[in-house]
Amino acid sequence: MIAREEIAQIVQEFETDLAQAGSAEALEKIRIKYLGRKSRLSRMFAKIPSLPPREKGVLGKELNVTKQKIAAKLEEKSQQNAQAEEGMDLTFPGEKISHGGRHLLSRVLEDICTTFENLGFSVKEGAEIDDEWHNFSALNIPLEHPSRDVFDTFYLNLPAQGKGKLLLRSHTSPSQIHFMEEASPPFAIVSPGRVYRPDQVDATHSFMFHQVEGFAVSEHIRFSDLKGVLLRFAKTYFGPGVELRFRPHFFPFTEPSAEVDISCFSCAARDSDEKCSICKGSRWIEILGCGMIHPHVLSACKIDPQRYRGFAFGMGVERIAMLRYRIPDIRLFYENDVRFLEQFRS
Ligand code: PHE
Repeated sequence: MIAREEIAQIVQEFETDLAQAGSAEALEKIRIKYLGRKSRLSRMFAKIPSLPPREKGVLGKELNVTKQKIAAKLEEKSQQNAQAEEGMDLTFPGEKISHGGRHLLSRVLEDICTTFENLGFSVKEGAEIDDEWHNFSALNIPLEHPSRDVFDTFYLNLPAQGKGKLLLRSHTSPSQIHFMEEASPPFAIVSPGRVYRPDQVDATHSFMFHQVEGFAVSEHIRFSDLKGVLLRFAKTYFGPGVELRFRPHFFPFTEPSAEVDISCFSCAARDSDEKCSICKGSRWIEILGCGMIHPHVLSACKIDPQRYRGFAFGMGVERIAMLRYRIPDIRLFYENDVRFLEQFRS
């Protein structure tokens, strides 16, 4: 057979085989059959040296071109197969990439802090591991005082250091002490973070939760400043229609002290007689504790109580988030169930 005809025949056979090759293995077989050492093309290459010089160059060139064409077609087919295997359709819309977002609690915590930053407060975080001095004594909660029970906490099994036993702070108020030990007035600070209490876990209690502490000290601060700041916060955060109610209360570290309620936004929004599930029909919802910083606390931080006064407040972040987003159970925050969390993705 004339070499050219033989080549044409090989190429034709190759095309037929190739069209039927559906898998990578089938393609490999075809590659061996047409380009392998024992292929017809290889045998034809082997004959070249015995040809007359004129034909050598022509056939050599033709064989090389054929070989390259076959290799290129094999490659193309192998790519098509790979795409078909993955079911790839380049016109198909892309898969949605699900990316994470901030946890609702982080967002609420930041929103609260931002509201106070806009009123001139700076943000300073405190440490979660603290000592008895900062969590209790400096806050005017003496060792034998019953109010220590209210702020009871977890103790660390480590040797006591200079300022009493080590513990997990049970409120963010120790941040007041840490800051005031170092700073001189005037200042206005908010301090967010985690706190711990040995509480039985239920729909409204957890052994760990978050608070935002706020405090400001200067020569001229009065209770009315505290009221103004908290009213501005409540209106910004819960809506302009919200009102505040200050109820006398006791905290060892403030005098006078108050608990603050906001008017129930849920009642305001509806006019049915049915008992409101948020305020339980009382029309007010407690959101925080506050007061004028006790002179003993200022003295403990070496700030002269004759010259300076301050106010302080502390609020629970989970509680605020539950109110604002109508979340019925505190445990939902910590279970990491994406079906819950993604409803609040920002
Ligand atoms: N530390 C108090 C609590 O955890 C809240 C509070 C802070 C009250 C500052 C008054 C002033 O309940």
